[in-house]
Amino acid sequence: MTPTPKLLKGDWLTLAPTLAPVSVDLLYADPPFNTGKPQRTPPNAHAVSGRIIRAAYADTFGTPRAFTVWLRERLEATLPALKPTANILIHTDWRTTHHVRLMLDDLLGADRFVNHLVWSYGLGGSSPRRFARKHDDILFYCLDPDRYYFKPPRIPATSNRLKGQTKKATDVLDIPSINNMAAERTGYPTQKPLALLELLVSACSPQGGAVLDPTCGSGTTLVAAARLGRSAIGFDRSAAAVAIARKRLKTLR
Ligand SMILES: C[S@@+](CC[C@H](N)C(=O)[O-])C[C@H]1O[C@@H](n2cnc3c(N)ncnc32)[C@H](O)[C@@H]1O
Repeated sequence: MTPTPKLLKGDWLTLAPTLAPVSVDLLYADPPFNTGKPQRTPPNAHAVSGRIIRAAYADTFGTPRAFTVWLRERLEATLPALKPTANILIHTDWRTTHHVRLMLDDLLGADRFVNHLVWSYGLGGSSPRRFARKHDDILFYCLDPDRYYFKPPRIPATSNRLKGQTKKATDVLDIPSINNMAAERTGYPTQKPLALLELLVSACSPQGGAVLDPTCGSGTTLVAAARLGRSAIGFDRSAAAVAIARKRLKTLR
């Protein structure tokens, strides 16, 4: 049976050294995006099931360089916990993705780069002054290009010719963001859809493997990992995030 995910409240940097050496198969991090504004549960938010726990987190690092220095320090502290076959997925958006990619090339080696995934979500981002911004970026790196784990995910085919069949996913992941009526909605700001995390976890970590999300927010990665038979560890420095993630994990059991 899959062990219940472990959840720890605290700073990623402080908690990283508590991880067992060479134990993690997948590190997925969805850190703040350096938007310059605090992220909070919207005032009109409601959870579809149960009472909502309101949450907020700071999202200001200053320059992109300050952000990548922050991120690099935490990744460096986590590298000893990764298996040689492990993968790293860093979730960013247009504000920092190019800076983070250069930092990862420097930290891990440009030959460790595997994919620049585009999560195309459809909602928001429109402006009369530019093309609508409707995607996030997920940078996929491995530790060893000859040994990293990867199982190409299959998604439902959409063409009439292939109706009812599946096809290999590309590096553009068309997955809607969480709608207002979705049962998975917790009200946590910037909560990611379970379908996205299930696809990433199943492609980038083996059955029975260990997944780490060091900025886990409402716990989406931990829920996805548990549903897919992986063990999982989540960190977050927000008490509200940990309370929401704990509540979500309880409903899994
Ligand atoms: C974009 S949100 C993660 C959302 C999450 N993927 C979900 O689906 O709910 C980023 C999270 O990083 C957390 N965070 C920010 N700085 C942190 C730090 N130094 N250590 C751990 N967590 C941190 C915030 O509290 C926030 O929950």
